[in-house]
Amino acid sequence: MVRQLIYTSRVAPGLQDEEALLRSILAVSVRNNAAVGVTGMLLRHRDHFFQALEGSAPAVEVIYRRVRRDPRHRDLRLLQDAPRASRSFAGWAMCGYNLGPADNEILDILNLRRDLDPRQISGSSALSLLRTVHAIQKRVLSATSAPVVIDA
Ligand SMILES: Cc1cc2nc3c(=O)[nH]c(=O)nc-3n(C[C@H](O)[C@H](O)[C@H](O)COP(=O)(O)O)c2cc1C
Repeated sequence: MVRQLIYTSRVAPGLQDEEALLRSILAVSVRNNAAVGVTGMLLRHRDHFFQALEGSAPAVEVIYRRVRRDPRHRDLRLLQDAPRASRSFAGWAMCGYNLGPADNEILDILNLRRDLDPRQISGSSALSLLRTVHAIQKRVLSATSAPVVIDA
């Protein structure tokens, strides 16, 4: 059994450089999470974060308690906190991704383009989104051959 927690939050005003912000959070997260067996996924979409944390209940508690106090985001909204039979983000201490306009197709497929409102999104929709991006990232990083481009 693992504890899986998903929350959304608002990026603190004034933090403009999104790539640098995500990179610095990820570097620390990978180190800390790996040390306590926590895995997860962090998405940034416009001025919001969506994050999943999973692992033993006490380990998730320790990480989430620290994350909650981080001044780089605010208005945290817990979307889901439940025991699960297995991990959704195994193998990645923390995977991060900036979701931009080029990713609208993913949102369309998940029927989320209009519903990606952090004040409205359900835990299960957020989990689908995080899992989808995670799966794509895994494929990209493990791709061994060049993509086949078909001109239509
Ligand atoms: C959106 C967001 C997500 C974060 N996720 C994690 C995380 O998964 N693990 C982690 O250790 N720190 C995470 N952090 C950073 C922590 O808030 C905190 O800065 C860090 O854990 C401090 O680590 P240190 O004491 O080793 O420097 C996150 C911060 C933000 C703003």
